[in-house]
Amino acid sequence: MDHFLYRDGELHAEDVPLRDIAQAVGTPFYVYSSATLLRHFRLFDAALEGMDHLVCYAMKALSNQAVIQLLGDAGAGMDVVSEGEYCRARAAGIPGDRIVFSGVGKTKGEMRTALTGGIRQFNVESEPEMEALSEVAVSLGLRAPITIRVNPDVDARTHAKIATGKSENKFGIPIDRARDVYAHAARLPGIEVIGIDVHIGSQLTELEPFRAAYGKVADLTEALRADGHDIRRLDLGGGLGIPYATGNANPPLPSDYGALIRESVGHLGCEIEIEPGRLIAGNAGLLVSEVIYVKQGADRQFLILDAAMNDLIRPAMYDAHHDIVPLVEPAPGAERATYDVVGPVCESGDTFARGREMAQVGPGDVVAFRSAGAYGAVMSSEYNSRPMVPEVLVQRDQFAVIRARPTFDEMIARDTLPAWL
Ligand code: LLP
Repeated sequence: MDHFLYRDGELHAEDVPLRDIAQAVGTPFYVYSSATLLRHFRLFDAALEGMDHLVCYAMKALSNQAVIQLLGDAGAGMDVVSEGEYCRARAAGIPGDRIVFSGVGKTKGEMRTALTGGIRQFNVESEPEMEALSEVAVSLGLRAPITIRVNPDVDARTHAKIATGKSENKFGIPIDRARDVYAHAARLPGIEVIGIDVHIGSQLTELEPFRAAYGKVADLTEALRADGHDIRRLDLGGGLGIPYATGNANPPLPSDYGALIRESVGHLGCEIEIEPGRLIAGNAGLLVSEVIYVKQGADRQFLILDAAMNDLIRPAMYDAHHDIVPLVEPAPGAERATYDVVGPVCESGDTFARGREMAQVGPGDVVAFRSAGAYGAVMSSEYNSRPMVPEVLVQRDQFAVIRARPTFDEMIARDTLPAWL
């Protein structure tokens, strides 16, 4: 459930008509609902109630400072994958002991920043990384708390570009080698082994792959404990999917997911971490855009918007579906039309939807892409020298710009000329 509903014929974000934001900010822009973000975080938190746990929001999904602070104030930890994300989390007031550091290619510089700034744990993904981390920790007179990410070779049954838990993927260590790798870790002076980490992919729409992966983690916990390791924390990753198209079968709820976690690993007495990103942010955000032209092609109509692939890349990159709805609620029985929905960028990949049947709209009308909160603004760019899309946060009847659209002068001033020109 989200807080983007038609009221009195107009689409609102909580209590704010989106038309008001469009007038104040101009299109295109992203808008997020605080109530929806908090609701989704609390669903996960409640799903793990009774177990020692921390929900670490995967901030790669949507990492605006205001969003991090909102979720952090509600008690969320953060899953970060770069020094930049680490610095963002700290700047938003997240204490180090609520930050976990994931990712296959952490550099020594990144490790140093997190170790000196404070960190809950590193989720280590390889033996070379483990050795590098040990060296850095020793040089600082510290021991780095780690989990090791195992690759359980489970098919997440999601889009190939966002599946991570099969043996051909670059992530984690093969689970069959885990006992050797943990033995290696225990010998390193700068490392303190505290647990196991797993993450098998994103936009999972069924629980079975999670069940398979968590079952393997439970077995491994027992084997590693028998080997003498103090396994006391399990990071079970993120990945729970969201419905992108209205009317599609709904993916499992966080409460079902929580029940599965309890069933699979509850008996082990470990502290549980999860790293959801998409389910918290996805349906908490819209991309709002104005129709520039409706163009008649040889055999189709093109709906040309002022948003483009640089603002929302998911359709071009993952063939993702996003529902597109007008800000003015269509009257019952109003005309519908079929469009190829495109942006102004100069490549054919700049297509949001092909043959999409939707409410008929015309130039000057404003539309919203639903489910655009996660992996939307964070994946945007200034391709075609289109200014970075602004972001707006709504809370009840208030809204605030939380990242402004740069002016052209600001964009140009970021480049510097070499002395010889
Ligand atoms: N933990 C780790 C280690 C991850 O790699 C990810 C996502 C998450 C947690 C959060 O997964 P989520 O709950 O959001 O599914 N750009 C793609 C999605 C990439 C996901 C990358 N890793 C998209 O737009 O679909």
